[in-house]
Amino acid sequence: MKKPIIVANWKLNGNKNFVQEFIKYCNLHLNKNFKKSTIIISPPIIYIKYIKKFLKNKKIYFSSQNVDYHDQGAFTGEISANMLSEIGVKYSILGHSERRKNHFESNKIIAKKFYSLKKNNLVPILCIGETNKEKKLNLTEKILKKQVDSIFLKCGKLAFHKTIVAYEPIWAIGSGKSASPYLINKILKMIKKYIIKNSSNNIKVYMQYGGSVSYKNFEEIIRLKYVDGVLIGSDSLNFKNFCKIINISDFINK
Ligand code: PGA
Repeated sequence: MKKPIIVANWKLNGNKNFVQEFIKYCNLHLNKNFKKSTIIISPPIIYIKYIKKFLKNKKIYFSSQNVDYHDQGAFTGEISANMLSEIGVKYSILGHSERRKNHFESNKIIAKKFYSLKKNNLVPILCIGETNKEKKLNLTEKILKKQVDSIFLKCGKLAFHKTIVAYEPIWAIGSGKSASPYLINKILKMIKKYIIKNSSNNIKVYMQYGGSVSYKNFEEIIRLKYVDGVLIGSDSLNFKNFCKIINISDFINK
């Protein structure tokens, strides 16, 4: 049986009113005891405490959308892994293509963040993915392996144990058109095998897909052999669709 891991990445969205409406809707419509799914919400960090307090379902976990790799110091505007842990955050997205692009985060910086998360017992949700241009040049495998290799280099052979790797093709994010089920399964299989082959022990790594996942294509994607979960952007901001996804997920047996 599959236990899907669903991550809702709110990005830079939401306000006090949105958060209150989200909580109200979830409190009414979310299955109370989902047993088969792990639900992780990643709102802007300042709303986490409030959501945690008022959301009735206490089985929901929280993630940050970013972390700094320093523990402390003169790093204006940053938040450390330890600080996240202190407010009850268990996961952190890192390496999202929007941060790679808009904040010039290199594989090396992302590896340092990954290291810091693991040191502080947070679970990294590492996003990897290729651009449309790279896809057309047949560079997908090379790009993804490079993104994975930098983590091995910094964090060692057990780096990926109990972590989440999200394949997020940049060309699919926010496009309204996800990668095909065939491609998703093929890429996740390739990356998983690569990670396991390069790990020293029999590690447990969870594979996700992200990029235009919605309540409409969710079931087809989550049923794929190599998909352990999904990372959802825009459709996670629609309370109705988000709750539908969770409720579907919890009834899936595999
Ligand atoms: P999307 O975003 O679901 O809106 O395509 C996914 C993501 O960026 O993680």
